[in-house]
Amino acid sequence: MPPPLPPPSQLSRRGFSSPIWICLLLSNVFFAGILFGVSICVHYPTHFQAAPSSSITDLRRDLLCLLRPPLSSSPARAITNGEHDEGCDPSVGPERLPALQGTFYRILVPLAGGGPRRGLEKKMCLRLASETFRLLSHVLSDEELLSLGSANTLRPVANQSWPSKVAFLFLTRGPLPFAPLWQRFFRGHEDKFSVYVHATPGFSFSEDSPEVFQSAMIRSQKVRWGEPSLVDAERRLLATALVDFQNQRFVLLSESCVPITNFTYVYKYLMGTNKSFTDCINDQSPWGRGRYRWEMMPEIHIDQWRKGAQWFGLNRQHAVAVISDSKYYPKLRKYCVPHCYVDEHYLPTMLSIIDARGLANRTTTYTDWSRGGQHPRTFSAQDITAEFIRSIQNDARCTYNGQPNQPCWLFARKFEPSALHPLMKTLQF
Ligand SMILES: *[C@@H]1O[C@H](CO)[C@@H](O)[C@H](O)[C@H]1NC(C)=O
Ligand SMILES: *[C@@H]1O[C@H](CO)[C@@H](O)[C@H](O)[C@H]1NC(C)=O
Ligand SMILES: *[C@@H]1O[C@H](CO)[C@@H](O)[C@H](O)[C@H]1NC(C)=O
Ligand SMILES: *[C@@H]1O[C@H](CO)[C@@H](O)[C@H](O)[C@H]1NC(C)=O
Repeated sequence: MPPPLPPPSQLSRRGFSSPIWICLLLSNVFFAGILFGVSICVHYPTHFQAAPSSSITDLRRDLLCLLRPPLSSSPARAITNGEHDEGCDPSVGPERLPALQGTFYRILVPLAGGGPRRGLEKKMCLRLASETFRLLSHVLSDEELLSLGSANTLRPVANQSWPSKVAFLFLTRGPLPFAPLWQRFFRGHEDKFSVYVHATPGFSFSEDSPEVFQSAMIRSQKVRWGEPSLVDAERRLLATALVDFQNQRFVLLSESCVPITNFTYVYKYLMGTNKSFTDCINDQSPWGRGRYRWEMMPEIHIDQWRKGAQWFGLNRQHAVAVISDSKYYPKLRKYCVPHCYVDEHYLPTMLSIIDARGLANRTTTYTDWSRGGQHPRTFSAQDITAEFIRSIQNDARCTYNGQPNQPCWLFARKFEPSALHPLMKTLQF
């Protein structure tokens, strides 16, 4: 068992050059058929120094410390099936070890710069559970996290079939009023989803909140709506979720979003297409092109400028593109400042430049803009009727995999907390 984590706010944010190293017991390694505890090197402020390490040999601690250089200088090379399978038995799965959950990852751990410790280069089989990935976000800097997420460093052991998962990324200020509804939505599908929550720093869920959310917090930073910190938070969520190779689809949600249909349907819908769902509007108005700045040339031409709400559903390839983008994002960060809102333009513009055909050109989150203005309509308890829900569920004014007359919406926003009770009663899942 990993030791309890100190609250994220107490974790050090310094770089890995910190002299204080403590190895935190994170996961188990299958080594010569024997389970050993293995540590990942993290650094904590001194008062957390009393970390368990007695069961860890220096050698293995060293090995795990080697996870460090790949994150900054030399990316760890993911290895494919075959070659020296030291300590790595792909046939050992949850069937044979029911007590173990999580995915076995085979990774090659290189040593920075070679030298006398070169002999330590090892292929290892790590068991990393979803919790571990979220934990990584608390001990890595953004840069390291983005690098780890985009490097595909950790790959599942070949020939093991692990279900693909949908990563639900909640970008929230504080509590999730619809947590009970989400909990019901997720129930029974535990191997097919993961949840990540980015909240205001210092926020933590109350103890009676569903466990699925309590354990989902990643390291967060202050977010100001409409500013780049919002997109930074989205990238932080994506990077954390990308480390888990099972995550193949990535959905961004807020505290005012609700699921509008059952999990089975959502999963099939998202997995059943290679397209990413994001609005991608070529808006010629002052609120669209009017926000373009010539300084974004030559990377972004004015007719490549797009707009759309940020509530995306991305495939893995596009999620990696977002977190590893060092070409377009810096331009938007610098020049898309109010009244240009970077969260409304970054994804649609960047993804349509790199892979327009891979986009569905719509989102799967229903929003009512019919009243016009800056903000969509917010629904409260009185608005929730069976007809209202059915009208969203049956709305088929879109295409799916090129087919017309398919339902368009999986999620909906924006809802006031008062809508929870009627939604629980009206939604049949
Ligand atoms: C892995 O799968 C491939 C193709 O399905 C097969 O040829 C190979 O023998 C398998 N390897 C193991 C170790 O089962
Ligand atoms: C899930 O929703 C779909 C579409 O509404 C429906 O056809 C299906 O029967 C539902 N499945 C379950 C298990 O409720
Ligand atoms: C997605 O793309 C892959 C490779 O391009 C293809 O093999 C697969 O059938 C596609 N899946 C769907 C649902 O279109
Ligand atoms: C995307 O959809 C909008 C309307 O939904 C349409 O105006 C626009 O032309 C579409 N863009 C592309 C690139 O297909």
